[in-house]
Amino acid sequence: MRGSKNAVTKHMVAAMLGDGPSVIRNAPQVGDVDITAAMLESAGFHVGLEDSEITIAPGSEVRTRVPEAFTGLNRIPILMLGPLLHLTGEAFVPLVGGDPIGRRPVDFHAEALTALGAEIAYGPTGITAKASRLHGARITLPYPSVGATETVLLSAVLAEGKTVLRNAATEPEVVELALFLQRMGAHIELSPDRRIVIEGVPRLRGASTRLAGDRLEAFSYLVAGLITGGEVRVHGCPQDRLVTAITTLARMGTRFDITDEWITASAPDGLQPAAVHTDTHPGFMTDWQQPLMVLFTRANGMSVLHETVFENRLVYVPALQKMGCEIEVFPNCLGGPACRFHDGNALHSAVIRGVSKLRGAEVELPDVRAGFSAVLAAAVADGPSALHGVHHIERGYHRPFDQFASLGLRLAHGSA
Ligand code: UD1
Repeated sequence: MRGSKNAVTKHMVAAMLGDGPSVIRNAPQVGDVDITAAMLESAGFHVGLEDSEITIAPGSEVRTRVPEAFTGLNRIPILMLGPLLHLTGEAFVPLVGGDPIGRRPVDFHAEALTALGAEIAYGPTGITAKASRLHGARITLPYPSVGATETVLLSAVLAEGKTVLRNAATEPEVVELALFLQRMGAHIELSPDRRIVIEGVPRLRGASTRLAGDRLEAFSYLVAGLITGGEVRVHGCPQDRLVTAITTLARMGTRFDITDEWITASAPDGLQPAAVHTDTHPGFMTDWQQPLMVLFTRANGMSVLHETVFENRLVYVPALQKMGCEIEVFPNCLGGPACRFHDGNALHSAVIRGVSKLRGAEVELPDVRAGFSAVLAAAVADGPSALHGVHHIERGYHRPFDQFASLGLRLAHGSA
């Protein structure tokens, strides 16, 4: 397993803060790395991409503007605001994109930067920020957002004085970023109760690191094996990053064989249904729910899935329904405690009947994780499927079609 998409791009942004070159090893070859590399280059950094190794070095001049051509490609520009402010005192970044899941606002990021002393202005094409020097602040996030926690880390490490962040995200990718910043010379304390204390330092040096295997990919491929009635062995993803996923799948009847090097999963006796709700770490992560949804169609009985992190993350269900998956979606909070979305109309719970007979279909893939699920459904469907928008999968998974082919899936690339 290569390092995760959700960690690698943030490490690339962190490298902007070093006064020497940084090296990121075990990097995945995903579209988001190329996009982020191009953004860093346009800001004046030297970026070397070589198979699994990324080198980032400061250039002679930092440009404060991330060009509008990068609008909507991924969620990284907003994370560049803090580093650009440190380097130049002002910054413009285009509006962020990423997968069309929910509104995905950036208000927590903007409020945190304002608390750190930045002047933020929203324009029609992006966000402008100004600050002669960021200073430490006490910040409490309304929800433990991964991205907003990373914005605070990337901005507070070079701010003047102490920052106390409460209700911070504790996802392994966030901790991995904090450890990288610590290697660069940052003073970061990870405290219990979702509290991070950052003591600003005047400068950071370059650092090198090796990314840990991607827990989203690991889960996706383990589930790919279970869905097709086979056995998949995933190498190089630490078990502790998968603890809740392993427990969930084990409850459904999956047998695991786990060593320090690999994890193997199979379900020779069939699968039982389950009720699962997604949550912040260490809960069942929201990026695992799409493969799980397809797996539920293979279980004997009715399962429930309750998405509590993003209000609109079930938008891919129609594509699966078209392939014969028996899934109904509801605005209610089913299968778990009431969540932030219980008063709204967002369809964020699903009831899934298994075992469904799936059929091949022609479908449009809306985003990266949903795209992977459609491939999983197509793998067990009767007849061929035509999937459009597969570039979404390549944005987030390392060489997915090579991996699928090695698992025995027959694929043909179309022109459209
Ligand atoms: C990151 C991951 C994504 C993962 C998610 C949660 C990347 C590139 N993406 O996304 O794969 O699913 O963490 O583990 O790393 N929110 C606000 N205002 C904000 C920021 C967030 O309301 O300013 C809300 C979101 O709408 C959502 C919740 O907070 O309901 C969590 O979002 P967040 O953790 O920030 O997700 P991302 O960092 O965008």
